[in-house]
Amino acid sequence: MGVERVEVIAPKPEGTIPDEFIRSENEQPGITTVHGKVLEVPTIDFSDPDEQKLIRQIAEASSNWGMYQIVNHDIPSEAIRNLQAVGNEFFELPQEEKEAYAKPLDSDSMEGYGTKLFKEFSDGNVTKKGWVDHMFNKIWPPSVINYQFWPKNPPSYREANEEYAKHMHKVVEKLFRLLSLGLGLEGQELKKASGGDDLIYLLKINYYPPCPRPDLALGVVAHTDMSIVTILVPNDVQGLQASRDGRWYDVRYIPNALVIHIGDQMEVMSNGKYKSVLHRTTVNKDKTRISWPVFLEPPADHVIGPLPQLVNQENPPKYKTKTYGEYVYCKLNKIPQ
Ligand code: OGA
Ligand code: NI
Repeated sequence: MGVERVEVIAPKPEGTIPDEFIRSENEQPGITTVHGKVLEVPTIDFSDPDEQKLIRQIAEASSNWGMYQIVNHDIPSEAIRNLQAVGNEFFELPQEEKEAYAKPLDSDSMEGYGTKLFKEFSDGNVTKKGWVDHMFNKIWPPSVINYQFWPKNPPSYREANEEYAKHMHKVVEKLFRLLSLGLGLEGQELKKASGGDDLIYLLKINYYPPCPRPDLALGVVAHTDMSIVTILVPNDVQGLQASRDGRWYDVRYIPNALVIHIGDQMEVMSNGKYKSVLHRTTVNKDKTRISWPVFLEPPADHVIGPLPQLVNQENPPKYKTKTYGEYVYCKLNKIPQ
């Protein structure tokens, strides 16, 4: 038997969802969300000509929030619209057609159409599930692309994704430079430590079907991203939440903004100066939510640790140094790092 997809399970009798989607009370969004308050994570104008100011804003937001939104980033809204249109179209295909891109069960790569990512612990007899299906494609550099996992339908899927990757380069270069300077390093040092030109852009599409009980279920459960940095565009359905002072808040949706998440590898490299952000997603009763995060990650055999330039006797390393592959293995299997 294949994997059960959330979008196939989703249409159930009015007002009910299967047990495996009902979160425990300390996770249920109906109980744990601070209602009526939208979190204003910092919004940063990427076109500001004052570089010193930008460096300060990025460093401050990366240290104190781990999440911020970038506006005026130069990625044409048409490129974003096209990326979203082809992703939408793919998920609207008949189920059998999507299954042709299913991630093989024994695969140690993330790529393909799938449902479950993290090992979830069982609660009694029920292993809990998130209300979401996904698609993963590596979109950069060309040497790591596996076109077998790229949908042939819609026919413009490839062009739209390649175009988006192309526009993303400038944002990535600038963001890494600002983050690096914000740590007191040379502009190119963080990028170099992240794998340089081998840095991988792993695109994920999260597809959250309408859910009859959005108060009980979660889309993606609370986590920090494993990546170095994640750059995300959502559709206009509210769903992203960030944890702040131990409470959960909706993050304001800003059309065309790029939502930046500081990932675990950036926290490690900066020796804790920049913080990865705890976040999760809720689902909607009537609408399908879709989001497109791009995880910027090093190759699996690349070693990541606190940068030697940032540690000394007063500030010893707070994290282990290990390959990214080892880090991912531990995280997905809930083994302590
Ligand atoms: C993720 C994630 C957030 C969103 O896929 O890691 O956090 O808005 N997604 O869908
Ligand atoms: Ni995430």
